[in-house]
Amino acid sequence: MTRPNIHVVHRSWDKDFPIIERAEGIYLYDTTGKQYIDGSGGSSVVTSIGHGNREVIHAMASQMDKFSLIPAHAFTNQPQLDLGDLLVSLAPGELKGNCRVWFACTGSDANDDAVRLARQYFVEIGKPSKYQVIGRWRGFHGNTISAAGMSGIAGRRSIFQPMYVDSPHIPPAFCYRCSFEQTYPSCSLLCARTLESIIRQQDPETVAAFIAEPVVGAALGGVPAPDGYFEKIREICSKYDVLFIADEVMTGWGRTGKLWGIEHWQATPDIITTAKGISGGYAPFSAIIARDSIWSVLQQNHSAFKAGHTLNANAVSCSAALAVIHYIMDHGLVENAQNRGLQLIKGLNTLKEKHQIIGDVRGKGLMVGFEFVKDKQTKTVFPPQLKLSTLFEKLALKNGLVTYPCTGSIDGVMGDMVLLAPPLIITESEIDDLINRIDLCIIELEELLPS
Ligand SMILES: Cc1ncc(COP(=O)(O)O)c(C=O)c1O
Repeated sequence: MTRPNIHVVHRSWDKDFPIIERAEGIYLYDTTGKQYIDGSGGSSVVTSIGHGNREVIHAMASQMDKFSLIPAHAFTNQPQLDLGDLLVSLAPGELKGNCRVWFACTGSDANDDAVRLARQYFVEIGKPSKYQVIGRWRGFHGNTISAAGMSGIAGRRSIFQPMYVDSPHIPPAFCYRCSFEQTYPSCSLLCARTLESIIRQQDPETVAAFIAEPVVGAALGGVPAPDGYFEKIREICSKYDVLFIADEVMTGWGRTGKLWGIEHWQATPDIITTAKGISGGYAPFSAIIARDSIWSVLQQNHSAFKAGHTLNANAVSCSAALAVIHYIMDHGLVENAQNRGLQLIKGLNTLKEKHQIIGDVRGKGLMVGFEFVKDKQTKTVFPPQLKLSTLFEKLALKNGLVTYPCTGSIDGVMGDMVLLAPPLIITESEIDDLINRIDLCIIELEELLPS
């Protein structure tokens, strides 16, 4: 049984948190022996290679045997150097072999570092008026005050809004609920073209960067931008000398069925942020990957990058990331994510036909979501007071499945969704099991809903 929660503050005051005793592959086991499928890949989209991987454990333990943290202002370490080489060799598009990396601890601080780099770069090339970062409504970039200012989930923003360096936002690329009430492709990608209007309204001389997730995770439950979107974004950013930052904190490392989420489009970002799946949850870790031409400016000016946290580039975290990435590449997990993702989407679409309350199924690879509706035709949603996605999460836990509840598809507050992101090692029969459990949970949810 769970001990009463007295001293530790958890993410909710209103529910019990079972204690997990061990985890293996795609499964978690609590102290009563109950098994759960890690269907959201941690909280969330983290556990890329599953739990208890011996290769990662061995790599981390042997590094710990040598040393863990060294004074980073005075020394470097071999795992950090090896990981830098690996990331540069695996970077997408024109970045491959043409970029450098900076290591950090979490997705939020990687995004903070990315906008610091953009700002410092423009100051150092003699364009100090460029400082603004444009984000997207229903985007999520982290929970630090700076990352939250770029994010666009109204429900999470309002309390802290007076403290943000607030960003201008453009509407999301979300065809199911298009902010412009248009239809793809006759819309000619108005959601992307809006970036140009906002840059011009803000004055291009003030805009340093645009940040977006290739597939929106926490805020929209696995929504990929439509074809052509990021090509248009790239074109606009280049036209106005605005750096394009791809937030690949969730989408990197095979999650979407390609090594990088942005590889679904023909567009190379100037800066990529990565976290979560890069170390698979074995150690807190993140990185930014940026064009050589950006770092060269700082280097030529002998100007150190003005960022950094005490635990950055921890040697144990770097060795974990090295082992995780090698495991992903050596075991064909990018391809597995693509194939199992297609199977998962197909299964969910069958459930969409069967159940009135599933309005949309979306995603890429093993970053997949579905959205609840009261009425499929009108796409009306359930009242937020019902907390439908949280209700679903509870039923799923009862049925041995961890899911990630998301809210706010309509306006950052209303609209319930579920995000699924099981470890990339998941097998065909395990996906079938996952789909069956979701079916069961939806049946139980439907019984609870007011008629
Ligand atoms: C796209 C994206 N960026 C950034 C973050 C923040 O990462 P972290 O929680 O590691 O700070 C998240 C977290 O969910 C995310 O989904």
